[in-house]
Amino acid sequence: MPQIFTASADTRLRTGMLLVALVFAGCLLFLGGFMDATYATLVGWVRDQPVPFSHAHHVGALGIDCRYCHTSVEVSAEAGLPPTHVCMTCHSEIWTGAPMLAPVRQSLATGTPIAWRRVARLPDYVYFNHSIHISRGVPCVTCHGRVDRMPLLARAEPFQMRWCLACHRDPASHLRPRDQVTRMDWSEWDRHPERHADFGRRMMARYHIEPAKLIDCSTCHR
Ligand code: HEC
Ligand code: HEC
Ligand code: HEC
Ligand code: HEC
Ligand code: HEC
Repeated sequence: MPQIFTASADTRLRTGMLLVALVFAGCLLFLGGFMDATYATLVGWVRDQPVPFSHAHHVGALGIDCRYCHTSVEVSAEAGLPPTHVCMTCHSEIWTGAPMLAPVRQSLATGTPIAWRRVARLPDYVYFNHSIHISRGVPCVTCHGRVDRMPLLARAEPFQMRWCLACHRDPASHLRPRDQVTRMDWSEWDRHPERHADFGRRMMARYHIEPAKLIDCSTCHR
């Protein structure tokens, strides 16, 4: 009678099980890396927009302030996207016939907002509020990057929970004079930390910022 389980079959079974375990561990490691990679966080990604609106052009070259278009950023949770007539304050005069701007003219004529595709977005179960960050002097550039250099807007930061928490644990060094929140270039300030060493600490006291409360789950999950 032939032997069903030979000694070599047993070895093959063990080797096979070891392989399965290794592949499984490999998958876990790969997934872990994947969650951190730009595929998952969308950092640096741009999306096709109905109109190739350029922040580099309008902010960087023309010097238009963020609040001209994102009017509610100081007073509400949402920064908001500009309604079409804001574009038309200029584009009823310049580039009036440009094919590139056809969707803008059509939007104005029909009263249908331009369907911008969002790049900076949190899941619905997270609460975020612009106005509190702006009123404490957290600059736009800290969270959105150098939009004045972006021909098409790309997400600058991962917007993961640990990214929010890293600042909430110790916001002092991120605080700036609040009348300058829309300023993009802080390299001069960053080059001389000793001149500003006290600023963050003073603001923490003035605004009564308590990191312990800021990392409480209910701050962002309500
Ligand atoms: C304060 C004036 C102003 C406003 C407001 C404005 N633009 Fe412009 N835009 C310009 C000027 C000036 C140019 C031409 C720049 C050049 O060619 O040097 C331009 C160029 C453009 C172009 C051509 C591509 C490019 O960037 O050169 C597009 C597309 C455009 N604007 C879309 C928009 C949209 C969409 C809005 C509204 C969200 C808007 N603009 C609001 C002044 C403005
Ligand atoms: C002339 C109008 C205009 C100005 C000025 C402007 N923006 Fe925008 N912004 C837009 C428009 C239109 C969009 C939607 C299209 C896009 O994503 O490029 C947008 C999109 C954005 C988004 C992405 C929102 C999302 O979720 O897709 C961010 C972030 C942003 N702007 C930040 C800024 C900052 C910071 C400034 C100032 C430094 C600024 N913008 C100045 C018109 C403007
Ligand atoms: C502390 C980080 C932080 C700062 C500072 C910040 N933003 Fe945002 N911004 C976000 C996050 C997070 C979102 C996504 C919000 C969501 O999806 O609920 C966002 C979304 C936006 C959007 C998309 C529309 C909206 O309201 O959701 C615009 C436009 C925008 N920000 C502009 C600005 C401008 C302009 C400034 C500076 C005046 C600014 N942001 C400062 C984190 C920040
Ligand atoms: C660079 C620093 C920084 C980053 C990044 C940041 N925050 Fe904040 N956040 C602050 C500061 C400063 C305050 C104001 C605290 C105060 O006045 O008590 C604040 C306040 C808040 C509040 C209001 C708390 C309250 O008492 O009502 C919420 C909600 C919030 N942040 C959510 C977020 C979320 C969600 C993210 C990530 C997507 C984020 N923040 C990223 C600095 C930051
Ligand atoms: C400063 C804001 C903030 C605070 C405080 C915070 N969270 Fe989050 N949380 C977020 C953001 C932003 C996300 C979305 C992450 C993403 O999309 O990758 C998130 C996602 C989550 C998720 C979904 C799974 C995941 O990890 O992506 C869980 C669960 C969660 N938070 C639990 C908690 C608990 C429990 C606490 C308290 C110990 C807490 N959070 C405190 C901002 C916050």
